[in-house]
Amino acid sequence: MDAAEYGRMVDMYTASGAVASAIALAKDLGVLEILYKSEVPLTSQDIADKGQLKERYVRELVSALVTGGVVQVDSTSTLFHINAEFKPVLREKSIFTRMVPYFGEKYGSILKCCTKDGPAGVRYSEHPVLFDMMDEMRAETQNQLLDRDVLPVVPKLQERLNSGIDVAEIGCANGTLILNLCARYPASHFTGSDVVESVLDIARSRASDRGISNSEFITLNVCHIPDSPKKHYDWIFLRDVVHDLPDPEGCLSGIYRMLRPGGYFSMLDFGLQGSLHDNVGKVGISYMYASSTFICLPESYQEQQSAALGPCFGVGKARELLLKAGFVLVHEHHSGWNEGEVHFVCQRPE
Ligand SMILES: C[S@@+](CC[C@H](N)C(=O)[O-])C[C@H]1O[C@@H](n2cnc3c(N)ncnc32)[C@H](O)[C@@H]1O
Repeated sequence: MDAAEYGRMVDMYTASGAVASAIALAKDLGVLEILYKSEVPLTSQDIADKGQLKERYVRELVSALVTGGVVQVDSTSTLFHINAEFKPVLREKSIFTRMVPYFGEKYGSILKCCTKDGPAGVRYSEHPVLFDMMDEMRAETQNQLLDRDVLPVVPKLQERLNSGIDVAEIGCANGTLILNLCARYPASHFTGSDVVESVLDIARSRASDRGISNSEFITLNVCHIPDSPKKHYDWIFLRDVVHDLPDPEGCLSGIYRMLRPGGYFSMLDFGLQGSLHDNVGKVGISYMYASSTFICLPESYQEQQSAALGPCFGVGKARELLLKAGFVLVHEHHSGWNEGEVHFVCQRPE
């Protein structure tokens, strides 16, 4: 092993996680926000005063961020700032470092899940802070997602939404995406659904706070859609739900039944390309597998048996599941800005 390879391994095994923890702490303490807002470089005392913090801790923390390349320092090693071009990236991506304390909170229960005689899984609802985290991650990029990767990709969707259609989102959580659509398309009606009642209450109160009257939120277990659903829809969408389910096949055939003939279904999910071996050394993919171990797999064991796909189930398996459910795969859109996200545009034949 050469020195470069050794350095890379040490960085990966120890330093990356520690830097992520420091970013998470700086974000939660408001240190990053103070640095974003400041027009001039600040001392650790300035930061501490602005944030009602202890200077010595602030100095240690920003030093970790400086040496990690996240925050910049002047030649006297006392004045801190964040480069203007780094700010938007850090603001968006630092949200993901909240995973660090979240993984820590769940660590003990995941340890037990992994053991042979331990529990099968842990539900999202047992650690509801995940919903706030997802919400924060989504809020930042929801318009980008809709304008680039969702609305223009489904045939004539915007025209039809303007004239008025019935839309459903499955696994809508706090309703970020569907409420955005409700406000854009007042002539259409939107049904958000999730298996967790408490998140639907949040979605309902957001709708009422925003004066949105073209939405409803219903409890629905998408793995148990009746043979003859009461209501049918023109467009159904879901994002990052299928890989979390015990029965993805049951879910997709249920959605097929909920669609009107000719209606569209949008499945947005992480679309791993290639085999595990093809992805060796890709840290972003490693992040997905790690998140799956702590979040997705445990969630999918909500029933005795689970397909336990995990988010890295791959585009090939996704196509197979969609075709098996009876959909025509109209288009496969790979996001240009949100690496790895794929929008499978499907249609129920007329
Ligand atoms: C990873 S989150 C994605 C939430 C939201 N779609 C987003 O992209 O931010 C998965 C969502 O699926 C919901 N979910 C899990 N199992 C479900 C089931 N059996 N039926 C319906 N929703 C389910 C969870 O409660 C959660 O809100």
